[in-house]
Amino acid sequence: METIKAIATRKSIRAYKPKQLSKDTLNKILAAGCAAPVSAGLYNTMHLTAIQDEKALGQLTDIIGASLPEEAKEMMEKMMGKVEPLYGAPTVVIISSKEPTDPGADYVNAGCIAENMMLAAADVGVGSVVLWSAGGTVQSSGELKDALSIPNDCTALFGVGFGYAAMEDSKQKDLTITIDVSYV
Ligand SMILES: Cc1cc2nc3c(=O)[nH]c(=O)nc-3n(C[C@H](O)[C@H](O)[C@H](O)COP(=O)(O)O)c2cc1C
Repeated sequence: METIKAIATRKSIRAYKPKQLSKDTLNKILAAGCAAPVSAGLYNTMHLTAIQDEKALGQLTDIIGASLPEEAKEMMEKMMGKVEPLYGAPTVVIISSKEPTDPGADYVNAGCIAENMMLAAADVGVGSVVLWSAGGTVQSSGELKDALSIPNDCTALFGVGFGYAAMEDSKQKDLTITIDVSYV
């Protein structure tokens, strides 16, 4: 798939089939993340945790679910019939970072890595979604952070869910300028 087509095809997927990604597909997605630009080329400041283990995903679901505000839980129950903060994604990648030398670079690095992974996923027909609360929740649970082998000197920033979309949707985005731009 050409890059522009992958960009137009990627959209946040919030319902997944239980079918798991193969190790090969997962590793292609992770490798695309590793090709992302990172501040000063300091790739060793970043850490990725690829979670496919059902028990670990269940733990993550329970801990994020418990931390959600009541309105969010009610909305999920209405939309999905249960509190499903990972939307049933069978693979979740948590992006973590050491304290960056340049303030804010950790989130920019993680954003670049996430987008590379999501575009690579779109290229091979895998859906994705940013899971914002997965970062803070993992970070604040020492037990889960240890269980996920996130190094002590890293902060879990956010997660990205991957899997096969439960519903077929071949519609692509119109690539038009929708963000306010000043031409100077
Ligand atoms: C920083 C960031 C945090 C996000 N957090 C969540 C989230 O926690 N849950 C979710 O369902 N989508 C989340 N999203 C996805 C956005 O809601 C989504 O990308 C946006 O509405 C545009 O839709 P699209 O991805 O389908 O193009 C997040 C996206 C970004 C960039």
